[in-house]
Amino acid sequence: MSDKDIIICRCEDVTQAEVEAAIDGGITDPEELKRFLNVGLGPCQGRTCGRLVLQILARKTGKPVSEIRATKTRPPLVSVPIKEFIGSDDD
Ligand code: FES
Repeated sequence: MSDKDIIICRCEDVTQAEVEAAIDGGITDPEELKRFLNVGLGPCQGRTCGRLVLQILARKTGKPVSEIRATKTRPPLVSVPIKEFIGSDDD
């Protein structure tokens, strides 16, 4: 297994090679990477892969992670059981 086969986003099955190819192709904004590769759009909403993507971006662009704008987090921030929206039998 090469480094390129490493799964960066396990929710959306995105590999390190795919992230690096997108960056090499000129996509250097985390929000654009998210839209192009769906990285960070899975059930965990980027909690697992977000930091990894920022680290790859930092390495490929030569910028420190602190200078790279992280992606926006949109609600729900955590998984919410559907029963929370429906309410209880008492309602
Ligand atoms: S690991 Fe990428 S969205 Fe969950």
